[in-house]
Amino acid sequence: MKNAPALKLVELLEIDPHAFRNVLENFPTGVTIVTAAVGTRKVGVTANSFSSVSLSPPLISWSIDKRSSSYEVFNKASHFAVNILAADQSNLSGQFARHSEDKFASVEHTHGAGGAPIFPECSAHLECELFSQIDAGDHYIILGKVVAFTDHDTTPLVLLRSLQNWVTNHWRFAHRGGGHRSTANLDRFLDCRSKAMRQFKHWY
Ligand SMILES: Cc1cc2nc3c(=O)[nH]c(=O)nc-3n(C[C@H](O)[C@H](O)[C@H](O)COP(=O)(O)O)c2cc1C
Repeated sequence: MKNAPALKLVELLEIDPHAFRNVLENFPTGVTIVTAAVGTRKVGVTANSFSSVSLSPPLISWSIDKRSSSYEVFNKASHFAVNILAADQSNLSGQFARHSEDKFASVEHTHGAGGAPIFPECSAHLECELFSQIDAGDHYIILGKVVAFTDHDTTPLVLLRSLQNWVTNHWRFAHRGGGHRSTANLDRFLDCRSKAMRQFKHWY
């Protein structure tokens, strides 16, 4: 029993980070873009680590990679916004998943609490006050207290094994029509799926 903690440490050190990320992909998530602003500097990061934490008070969390150049702004900003992406916003997800000096170029947005950018076409957005931060391995967990939200009630983007949105759409199409139509939609689904897989491999 005395040796148990040391054994656990060895097991942890042997876990390959890529295999670990792959196993986590068995858990389907939505896709968000978390944004913040300080002065004239705006940042936005595609994030699927978003999670609900508490209903009363209304708390949510997400985690940010310590290497992210956007962290400096999230660390200083009094507020941030979580934009929950709609099924047709996979391009936006890609745009905010890569480092760039101006991720917001030609992206329509307004400003919420603390000036955090909000995308009007998303499925829903939450405006949050920074509640606390936790140092956690190679990420910081950021907790936010929700001060306002808007629910646009549109189909959200879904990420399952690096495969965005197509699963939901396939089932909608397949159950609407029969015969040839279902077959055509299945072909379209498979085609879209391979494109999505290629795109995601490129982003990572
Ligand atoms: C689907 C998806 C989910 C992601 N989730 C997160 C996340 O939860 N936290 C994070 O820090 N980065 C996440 N990333 C990567 C960031 O979006 C990316 O590192 C960031 O935009 C880099 O830009 P920056 O250095 O300008 O901040 C995710 C990327 C993708 C494609």
